[in-house]
Amino acid sequence: MAGLRARLRGFAFGGDYNPEQWDRAVWDEDVALMRRAGVNLVTLGVFAWASLEPEPGRFEFGWLDEVMDLLHAGGIAVDLATPTAAPPVWLSHGHPEVLPVMEDGKTFGFGNRLHYDPTSPRYRQHAARITTALAERYSGHPALAMWHISNEYGPIAYTPGAAAAFRDWLRRRYGDDLDALNDAWYTRFWSQRYTSWDQVAPPELPRSWSNPARRLDFQRFASDALRECFISERDIVRSYRDDLPVLTNFMRFYRHADYWRWAAEQDAVALDIYPDPGRDDSRVAAALNFDLMRSLRGQPWILMEQAASAVSQWRVNNVKPPGRMRLGSYQAIAHGADSVMYFQWRASRGGHERFHSAMLPHSGTGARTWREVEALGAELPRIAEALGSGSRAEIAVLFDWDAWWGLETAYGLPRNDFDYPGMVTDHYRPLLEGHFAADVVSFDSDLSRYRVLVVAGAHLVSDGFVARLERFVAAGGTLLCSYFCGVVDPHNQVRQPAYPGAFRGLIGAYIDEYWPARDGETFEVRFADGTTSVCDWWQESIHPESARAVAWYASGSLSGRPAVIQNPFGSGRVVYVGTRLPPATLHDTVLATVRDAGVAPLVEAAPDFVEAARRGNEHAEFLFLLNHSDTRTARVAVPAPGVDLLTGVAVGDHVSLDPLAVAVIRTERQRQPAAT
Ligand code: GLA
Repeated sequence: MAGLRARLRGFAFGGDYNPEQWDRAVWDEDVALMRRAGVNLVTLGVFAWASLEPEPGRFEFGWLDEVMDLLHAGGIAVDLATPTAAPPVWLSHGHPEVLPVMEDGKTFGFGNRLHYDPTSPRYRQHAARITTALAERYSGHPALAMWHISNEYGPIAYTPGAAAAFRDWLRRRYGDDLDALNDAWYTRFWSQRYTSWDQVAPPELPRSWSNPARRLDFQRFASDALRECFISERDIVRSYRDDLPVLTNFMRFYRHADYWRWAAEQDAVALDIYPDPGRDDSRVAAALNFDLMRSLRGQPWILMEQAASAVSQWRVNNVKPPGRMRLGSYQAIAHGADSVMYFQWRASRGGHERFHSAMLPHSGTGARTWREVEALGAELPRIAEALGSGSRAEIAVLFDWDAWWGLETAYGLPRNDFDYPGMVTDHYRPLLEGHFAADVVSFDSDLSRYRVLVVAGAHLVSDGFVARLERFVAAGGTLLCSYFCGVVDPHNQVRQPAYPGAFRGLIGAYIDEYWPARDGETFEVRFADGTTSVCDWWQESIHPESARAVAWYASGSLSGRPAVIQNPFGSGRVVYVGTRLPPATLHDTVLATVRDAGVAPLVEAAPDFVEAARRGNEHAEFLFLLNHSDTRTARVAVPAPGVDLLTGVAVGDHVSLDPLAVAVIRTERQRQPAAT
């Protein structure tokens, strides 16, 4: 990434470029307009397999040679993709065994994209051949700056080949010991015991219910199978040249790939994000996604795709109103992105995404979107000094795929409508709205650098995480924990002898029953200071051991029992919330907890629709302030005077932000360098 930064000498700005959709005559105009817009990086060839290899083993590189040369002559670097996300028809029809079979047993045929079984040796062999041919031809091309492996890895297959691969994966996981698998999957239940490995198969769509441990292992396997595809193409391009970043593009809260494990295999992290412009509040989930991307490798990351305006995936695809695209772009940068990239450069005339917005819309340079893209491209160099800068947070929020899969892969929980990313987002929202910086951590992360950890929806927890968490709190850390955490082990088996299993010591209480609410049922909760709030969805019958109650149910069957408790643990403290608090109460509870832990917000007393984030390097700090309201002006007190890099205007003790405005306030660094 440092190499890419040095080469581009500024934020990467550009998008997916699909010249294979256009006549040669258009390419010169493309490059000229890219230059005009300030584009310095394009992603080429993502879905170009059929144009590059029209028949098996016959390559047509002439057009790509020409495009690479044109871009290079225009001073535009290339993020070259392997085209393996969209196999050509000759592969799908010539070798139908490469097609995935979906969970319902139906084959996902040609005519879309991602129509491949990641475990298919034939698919992998053909993917390796086109990847090798591209690497051989373009590794030395002066335009090449980065390798983009495939695109948005995602399909899961239920083919016989996938079943065999699943068995091999299980044999490795359980040390070739079928008894260990039987124990892990609790196959004594419903007579599911296996007596030979060839009886073990992926969990198909259940007619009624299915084994939760088997589903969980299949999720893990599927993520690993996709990752193997990435690794095999990565290793091919690296074998030709190992000084360029190699990565693939992640998707927002994507359930089928454990991005912590993936990120470790990549040189940098890249994200595609498409918040629905028709929904008011997607900015909180976007911010959490951005913090997750930064945290996956503890580095600046690449905003690889966003929409310049509308997308094509919703029932109604609203446009981004004026100023929203710019604001969203700065939001990503504020949370650590070193780029602003789009899907795509020029709007397609046909195909499914013909109305998906583009940097260059159908209506050309007269369009509002073009003007906003061009203006942003011209503006980004003003903040070039922030490129590569890092950030520090004293708060971490857990987002772990095993926790997600444990909560959502199988029926049979006290309630079966949990939304793991939604729960984590609900607990992150107060931090964002309260202007606190947060990192994201997994079960395997080092927690020792944080003061507060927020854990929500971690019904499944690993033993290693529990041990790390206990050390963290014992050493003085603060844990804020939601209901229904710590209950099962990594095999989806209930930890004994009492709920909440692994967290009993931490929360200083046991729970004898989980009480999901009936539809529409609410219950009053009264806090020690006399305030009350109305909760719903979930209750727990909590029995404090070392904990003390800070809020009690004041109505309903659990009236008089604790709803929120606090427990001293070593030198630290745990706040356990046993019910679903309404947003305002959760907001107050989270913020009181972080303030009690001695953590300060980035700015004090700013309105909640203003977002604050800070990046820094050895010379300076950059305070990003973003006004997400499209009607209200905000006055924000800033902690130190500086200069707004976007306007060049000196900032004293406060800044005024118009609706949708952004300020990037640079202050000279006084203290320790930020970690990058
Ligand atoms: C994804 C894909 C792109 C495009 C966009 C917009 O992120 O990677 O090819 O389809 O979505 O829908």
